[in-house]
Amino acid sequence: MPAEIAPFYAIQLSRIAHRLKAEGRSILHMEFGQPSTGAPKAALDVAHRVLDTEAMGYWESAELTARIARHYRETYGVTVDPEEIVLTCGASPALVLALSSAFERGDRVAVARPGYVAYRNSLKALHLEPLEIACGPAERYQLTAAALAALDPAPAGVIIASPANPTGSIIPPAELAAIARVCGERGIRIVSDEIYHGLSYAGETRSMLEFDPRALVINSFSKYFSMAGWRLGWLVSPGEVAAARARAYVGALFLTAPVLSQHAGLAAMDARAELDGHVAVYRRNRELLLEALPKLGLASIAPPDGAFYIWADVGHLTDDSLAFCERLLRETGVATAPGLDFDPVEGRHFIRFSFAVSTAEVEEAIGRMIPWFAAQARRP
Ligand SMILES: Cc1ncc(COP(=O)(O)O)c(C=O)c1O
Repeated sequence: MPAEIAPFYAIQLSRIAHRLKAEGRSILHMEFGQPSTGAPKAALDVAHRVLDTEAMGYWESAELTARIARHYRETYGVTVDPEEIVLTCGASPALVLALSSAFERGDRVAVARPGYVAYRNSLKALHLEPLEIACGPAERYQLTAAALAALDPAPAGVIIASPANPTGSIIPPAELAAIARVCGERGIRIVSDEIYHGLSYAGETRSMLEFDPRALVINSFSKYFSMAGWRLGWLVSPGEVAAARARAYVGALFLTAPVLSQHAGLAAMDARAELDGHVAVYRRNRELLLEALPKLGLASIAPPDGAFYIWADVGHLTDDSLAFCERLLRETGVATAPGLDFDPVEGRHFIRFSFAVSTAEVEEAIGRMIPWFAAQARRP
């Protein structure tokens, strides 16, 4: 029987936002976690040239896998064989590859709640069992070694995300090491989603490969590299057997990543100055929102260490974050994501702001939201 997959409510909100925009309303899109900037100029220049000169058949760029391996060496001090890197159409297929190549039908895989909606849904679609662990303010909304040690029986795997979506919280290096130790002792296979690396404002983003050389690591060009629509990412599958398995799976399920994107992605990896400019904008946006949140009466938020999100508790105002986000959108034009997407239990009390927009848009959104929030009645 096909698995039941919940709808992505932010998409529902976004459709309303686009309809309102078509009617002439001014809309500020803070519902999706995607950069509003395009690919770096160097990547675009290469893409224009490739379009005119290449036939673009099925192909995997050996230069790009070598460049990604160099990135692991330079950024994290870990050695990754380019043969262990599989290029994919983004982190989403990399996640499917990691889960399908490492686990068996019915295996339990631990995930944080709140967490990225696709973890739960991909696990279910692959007939694996998501084991959701409630993570609140005491754990900085993140999985801990202690929580993993307490699971009885031990799950087959765990998905770690740092910085995380929807919270932006980062797991400190000592805790990553402790998680790797507990997982090693208990035979729990780690899948580490490192898609928000490069986007951090407080705390270090260290790769799980520094602590567990067997970890399956997924990453992508969608966030830091500002190339979401180019659909390019990768899976690091350490070890000869795991790498061969991942390769067999990618061949069977997806064939290759887009050729144009592979060429452009290679150039993007050396466009640090331009990309770090985007991070400076996000840093400013984050500061502005942090300053404004008390004026909105939002006192309880997850530590926004990285990524481009603020996960805010609106439980004093609503018991239905979907209806709340829709009202906020219709009445102010500010589109946000309802917490239900990320936490089916507590999410009705949370909303997520994405600040991957321009600073002018953040300022405008704050200006519209202050009077709106002030006018909202507290729940009894
Ligand atoms: C935590 C996380 N992982 C993976 C993805 C998927 O990204 P993509 O398939 O665009 O690389 C996203 C997208 O928002 C995300 O937030």
